[in-house]
Amino acid sequence: MIINSATFIKSSARVDQCPAPDKPEFAFIGRSNVGKSSLINMLTSRRSLAKTSVNPGKTQTINHFLINDAWYLVDLPGYGYAKVSQKMREQWNTLISYYVRKRENLVSLFVLIDSRHEPIASDLEFMENLGLNQVPFARVFTKTDKISSNELEKNIAAHNNAMMKNWDSLPPTFRTSSAKNSGRDELLDYIYESMMLYNQD
Ligand code: GTP
Ligand code: MG
Repeated sequence: MIINSATFIKSSARVDQCPAPDKPEFAFIGRSNVGKSSLINMLTSRRSLAKTSVNPGKTQTINHFLINDAWYLVDLPGYGYAKVSQKMREQWNTLISYYVRKRENLVSLFVLIDSRHEPIASDLEFMENLGLNQVPFARVFTKTDKISSNELEKNIAAHNNAMMKNWDSLPPTFRTSSAKNSGRDELLDYIYESMMLYNQD
């Protein structure tokens, strides 16, 4: 799929402030600093469409980007950032849980996982919850430029093993590097196919 246009539409602090749910959308979620905003920039080939930072906790709201005047990419705040208060954490949980369950035009969520790390409980629990709520999702292993391909496959195998304890099958899985622009075509193809299926219903 070719991206002809990518426009920032708005930042929303609450789900009811988001743009009308009249176009299919795909959202990026995962721990703070995993590379959600960078991945949106990589997919759209815009260097600073979504704001990124070396410091975790950069994205704090729900950010909608309109692509090809036809569908949305959504940048969400990250979880698991140690420096936030308990109250902020609860606010995040409420916001995200509401967003993923109630956003009627959400076609698929991308759960981003840093490919350098072992499986962590918060990611596994988050995906478990998506399953319970029947929210379609795919996994994206990010920052693959930072490790060797052997390490990458070893880490993904560990993630798969951890997931298979509670799941019968694995979700669609992608490997990306925003630094090296890799995994872009695969993700865009998946988005295109998912959108075709969604528009048929
Ligand atoms: P929050 O908004 O805080 O939740 O973070 P985020 O998930 O949006 O992460 P962001 O895209 O801001 O990236 C965090 C840091 O990781 C930045 O310094 C990015 O340059 C870096 N980064 C993101 N993706 C990659 C990647 O694929 N490779 C490398 N080497 N660095 C990356
Ligand atoms: Mg961000």
